[in-house]
Amino acid sequence: MKYIVGNWKSNKSSKEVTFWFEEFAKCISSQKINLNNTTIVVCIPYVYLSLAQKLRDTLSLPLKIGAQDVSPFKNGAHTGEVSAGMVSEYAQYVIVGHSERRNECKEDDAILFEKAARAQEVKLTTIYCMQGENTKVPVGVPLVAYEPIWAIGTGQADTGDNAGKVITVIKRKWNVTNILYGGSVTAKNIKDFLSNESIGGVLVGGGSLDPHSFWEMILNASRI
Ligand code: PGA
Repeated sequence: MKYIVGNWKSNKSSKEVTFWFEEFAKCISSQKINLNNTTIVVCIPYVYLSLAQKLRDTLSLPLKIGAQDVSPFKNGAHTGEVSAGMVSEYAQYVIVGHSERRNECKEDDAILFEKAARAQEVKLTTIYCMQGENTKVPVGVPLVAYEPIWAIGTGQADTGDNAGKVITVIKRKWNVTNILYGGSVTAKNIKDFLSNESIGGVLVGGGSLDPHSFWEMILNASRI
């Protein structure tokens, strides 16, 4: 099973969310492809999770919905926080520890471990982001994404071969079985990553914003 995970980051209006799902539905119905070995996830800003879930269901799309963050706290007096329980009503996946949150929001390992624990308690599947073999990974996270900082949003992707080597080291060091690669993945280079045995899938930022480019990636992945 290979994962193709889109991360919209802090983008889109509700109108644009609707447009994305409707266009993606057109892409899917235009070509029959075998998605049996692929899990497709789109990680969406909190406020659109409910809308996205409704659109996914109405349009019968083979997509899983994910959030991009989660609170380290359970429900209670934590103003502004969105708990794992709340997220789990609308999503099956959650990204924890993206480098943008580590850098811009100063989230450290202690907070991120709490977030991963809260997600695990409600059976949200965590996609735990790390930047290299020295990033600490909580025990038992189901999915990890290796995202070298220099490759994020720069157009300078790693090669499948090199990412595969780093991922092999990370797997051994942190005892995780499924690791995705993220950083400037495009329709052009996706095959290079997905055809590498050590790489469990891709985490795609910019390339997931346009439904047609995201679909093109999925199409190319289906041709490996
Ligand atoms: P990018 O982002 O695909 O735009 O490089 C990847 C990510 O930040 O997850």
